[in-house]
Amino acid sequence: MSNKPTILVTGGAGYIGSHVVLALKNFGYEVIVLDNLSYGHPEIVKEVLKVELIVGDTNDRPFLDQLFASREIAAVMHFAAYIAVGESVQKPIEYYRNNVVGTLTLLEAMLQAQVKKFVFSSTCAIYGMPQEIPMTENHPRNPLSPYASSKNMVEQILGDLDLAYGLKSVAFRYFNASGADPSGLLGEDHQPETHLIPLALLTALQKRSSLSIFGTDYETKDGTAIRDYIHVNDLASAHVLGLEYLLNGGQSEVFNLGNGNGFSVREVIETAKQVTQRDIPVIESDRRAGDAPILIGSSAKARNLLGWNPQYPDLNTIVTHAWQWHQRRHGKQ
Ligand SMILES: NC(=O)c1ccc[n+]([C@@H]2O[C@H](COP(=O)([O-])OP(=O)(O)OC[C@H]3O[C@@H](n4cnc5c(N)ncnc54)[C@H](O)[C@@H]3O)[C@@H](O)[C@H]2O)c1
Repeated sequence: MSNKPTILVTGGAGYIGSHVVLALKNFGYEVIVLDNLSYGHPEIVKEVLKVELIVGDTNDRPFLDQLFASREIAAVMHFAAYIAVGESVQKPIEYYRNNVVGTLTLLEAMLQAQVKKFVFSSTCAIYGMPQEIPMTENHPRNPLSPYASSKNMVEQILGDLDLAYGLKSVAFRYFNASGADPSGLLGEDHQPETHLIPLALLTALQKRSSLSIFGTDYETKDGTAIRDYIHVNDLASAHVLGLEYLLNGGQSEVFNLGNGNGFSVREVIETAKQVTQRDIPVIESDRRAGDAPILIGSSAKARNLLGWNPQYPDLNTIVTHAWQWHQRRHGKQ
């Protein structure tokens, strides 16, 4: 048994949550994963992470009350959410219910149990169209989808709960989470997949016939959109620092987590071709409504206040680690 406190990780059977669980374990924390397995992978929690998995839902208040009453939980790290921007436009009720009502239910149960430290997965999507690059935490917030609005609403709720009840929170606004643990044992596996790097690798593996590029006429160096890809293990190390900041009495804060470097869609595809040594057929399509030409974040605040020092900013490394996971996941082919 470690003498570090127990952390409840919601959504710990998913992509980012599972990498954070690994980092917490490496730092000696006791971890309980709470996941309803709507998208999570229980075998990863049980066989790779080897931590306790409690199957349950953040919308289930009696279940949460019982959980908090029966366990000594020092803090909650909350990854559980629906995450697909496009789907949220089609199904706003489901998104607001799961991402806002589910989070509010969890927060109420925490407060009832006097658990007042909360680390939250927010998103750079709350900024909307960029007015400056790189974007800092002070950039105006203009969410353009129900998904982004749901995260923005939770950030507002967290501010109010701090004022009213002293709940201390760290909200991390991620740019594009990417890559995988270098062990190849954990990685990105969304159903359906909507993220560029896994889509490129699934195309290289011939699990998909082609990859669509949305927009080739942006005012960027090669006409394709530029995004900030942040390695998931660097996200994970920031979460441990954010948790320790709160456990040490830190005030509520929001932080961007990004690479600070942007890569174009074509650069990502070229890197994926080099790493995999495979062909990746592409289809050039029109721009998608609401897509910005360039999104790059400044993470100076997380570096300065938390002492965060990302280890894997290089695109080749990010894609190589993702490829190791995909080969293992789909069998070396
Ligand atoms: N992937 C990214 O690039 C990215 C970017 C910005 C923010 N985020 C945020 O990070 C978090 C994690 O994203 P991810 O990519 O790991 O997603 P994911 O789908 O892999 O993981 C989410 C997990 O939450 C679980 N879950 C969903 N609703 C639940 C509920 N009501 N109760 C219990 N469990 C529930 C799912 O089963 C899944 O295991 C999300 O909050 C997402 O909005 C992700």
